[in-house]
Amino acid sequence: MTEARLGHPDLGLGLGLRSCHYQYILDQQPDVDWFEIISENYMNSEGRPRHILNQIAERYPLVMHGVSLSIGSTDPLNFDYLDGLKKLATEINARWVSDHICWTGIAGRNTHDLLPIPYNEETLGHLTARIQTVQEYLGRPLVLENPSSYITFAASTMAEEEFITRLVRQTGCGLLLDVNNVYVSCYNHDADPLDYIRRLPHESIVQFHLAGHTNLGTHLIDTHDGHVVDPVWNLYREVCQLTGNVSTLLEWDAQIPEFPVLFAEVQKAKKFRDGGLTTPFEEQSPPEQPVARSAVPHPTTLTMIEYE
Ligand SMILES: [Fe+2]
Repeated sequence: MTEARLGHPDLGLGLGLRSCHYQYILDQQPDVDWFEIISENYMNSEGRPRHILNQIAERYPLVMHGVSLSIGSTDPLNFDYLDGLKKLATEINARWVSDHICWTGIAGRNTHDLLPIPYNEETLGHLTARIQTVQEYLGRPLVLENPSSYITFAASTMAEEEFITRLVRQTGCGLLLDVNNVYVSCYNHDADPLDYIRRLPHESIVQFHLAGHTNLGTHLIDTHDGHVVDPVWNLYREVCQLTGNVSTLLEWDAQIPEFPVLFAEVQKAKKFRDGGLTTPFEEQSPPEQPVARSAVPHPTTLTMIEYE
């Protein structure tokens, strides 16, 4: 671990913890620096997943990543949910707790989708107040992730990166920068991903996500079902030069391969972090070939929850 950012150390290179790899991890104790869990899979549970998590927590640093905070919703904050988050974070010594800049439901209903919000003064004030309440309740800074998006709003008055910058500066929360999400959203909205990352508050980035996506030709979908593509690796290298080394995590949530495949993929990040791979943008591999729509397993923006 190296220098802490907003009190969050560089944990190194981590993987998303998925149930299909439990036994491998317990048996082999692979040389992964840390794991990120989906908070909702372990909250308020004393079952087998929790029992295994406790064993993994003895060996590896853990970070909690939630998908139900719904910080952008107009529903009241769910303090039962926050209570569950807080207890789990204490029990497993979570290094930090993250969620997404989105809303997931209304009128008490959870859509299990990470839905986008318009970027304007009203939503900025709304999220700022709610983040401050959540941070006060949890007794720690929240970390929030930039979304992948497929639409924009006529009601937006600022770019996403400006909204995020103002949000983290007003609340003191950390930013989990999903580099694949930047690439997906910029592709879908015909924006420049390099320009996007250059305009972010780099001092507030405490974690990166890397993931694969599905190319439908006209647009990209954030499916987390394959390898990270070269343009995303190059973006990662660029942003590492702006931030220095920051905890980096590979997400792979559909068509999940054997553990060594994931391990090899996240190890690639080392070369980019260190600047060892310096392929200029002009020389990068061509974009992956589009697939047929029928081949997309789950056309959703979700980081999927594995209910067990
Ligand atoms: Fe992500």
